[in-house]
Amino acid sequence: MKTQEEWVKVCTSDKLKEGRHVIREAHYEGVLESIIICRFKGHCYAYINRCVHMPKRLNCEHDLIFDITGQFLRCSMHGIIYTPETGTSQSTMCHGEQLKAVKVTEIENMIYLSDKRVSA
Ligand code: FES
Repeated sequence: MKTQEEWVKVCTSDKLKEGRHVIREAHYEGVLESIIICRFKGHCYAYINRCVHMPKRLNCEHDLIFDITGQFLRCSMHGIIYTPETGTSQSTMCHGEQLKAVKVTEIENMIYLSDKRVSA
């Protein structure tokens, strides 16, 4: 298990508002990846930024991650929507498939990627 000193800093809590996201490049199992960190209903969630449909970033067409309702994450390529809490596709396309979740921890006004598979 990683210590807090080894976690990857994302940003201070105030920089990630409700219904917003930030994207951080970090290594996941040694491979540099784009990682989405979002806030939904007060909690932070993080996912590898790769759609389950094709290996595209969710923001490949524009810089939005939440859909127009603010209730789902949405891939800008073909429109698959995902529940923010679990990264599960709610669309007919790839229904039930999940984005790869990354452990995130918010503590003392700071957000970290605390996943043991993630390094800076
Ligand atoms: S690549 Fe994301 S919905 Fe098709």
